Amino acid sequence: MRKIKLYIAMTIDGYIASLDGHIDFLNDYGKDGLDYGYAKFLETIGTVILGRKTYDQVIGFSSNYPYEKQTSYVLTTSKNNPKINHIIFKNNIDDIISDIKDKQGKDIFLVGGAKTIKIMMDKNLIDEIHLSIIPKTLGEGIPCFLKHQNLSTYQVLDTNTYKDGIVQIIYRKI
Ligand SMILES: NC(=O)c1ccc[n+]([C@@H]2O[C@H](COP(=O)([O-])OP(=O)(O)OC[C@H]3O[C@@H](n4cnc5c(N)ncnc54)[C@H](OP(=O)(O)O)[C@@H]3O)[C@@H](O)[C@H]2O)c1
Repeated sequence: MRKIKLYIAMTIDGYIASLDGHIDFLNDYGKDGLDYGYAKFLETIGTVILGRKTYDQVIGFSSNYPYEKQTSYVLTTSKNNPKINHIIFKNNIDDIISDIKDKQGKDIFLVGGAKTIKIMMDKNLIDEIHLSIIPKTLGEGIPCFLKHQNLSTYQVLDTNTYKDGIVQIIYRKI
């Protein structure tokens, strides 16, 4: 069965963005050709899931949508579905999951953000967590893991330590 994988960067104190949603704290990283296994990870992915706020941010970064090779599902209450075949707006996570989980294909990348992760955690749907810990603290911001309703146990599949101080831990749900 296709796995749902969260791949995300989080500060030491647990934030994925500042309170206003910016991710400037990531600007110091990804230099000297370091990609933290991202390109290889993306090769395993056929579908991405994004919350609407994260989607808006991603499309604002550049004119090239980074998930052109995948099908994107955007969780939103909005009915303004863009007329692009590979980007699908849905207002219910259950509809997204029933569309994709039992179909053959590559794995599913949960991009974020926090509210969308929380909804997936509530339903115990995250099979793998690829967590890159950024060696910074923000003091306040959008937490990676909001309060949720499930207790899960994960085992460590792999760890990678990068020369810029990022430590990546790859967990798989037991
Ligand atoms: N550090 C990283 O690696 C990383 C990765 C990803 C994201 N982020 C950050 O995460 C932040 C965004 O996170 P976020 O938690 O604020 O937002 P989010 O999860 O990206 O999106 C929230 C939106 O999802 C929709 N939504 C949420 N629950 C829903 C439900 N039950 N039914 C239907 N739609 C629902 C709503 O869209 P509508 O308002 O349209 O209804 C809501 O406003 C951004 O600042 C981004 O930079 C960081």
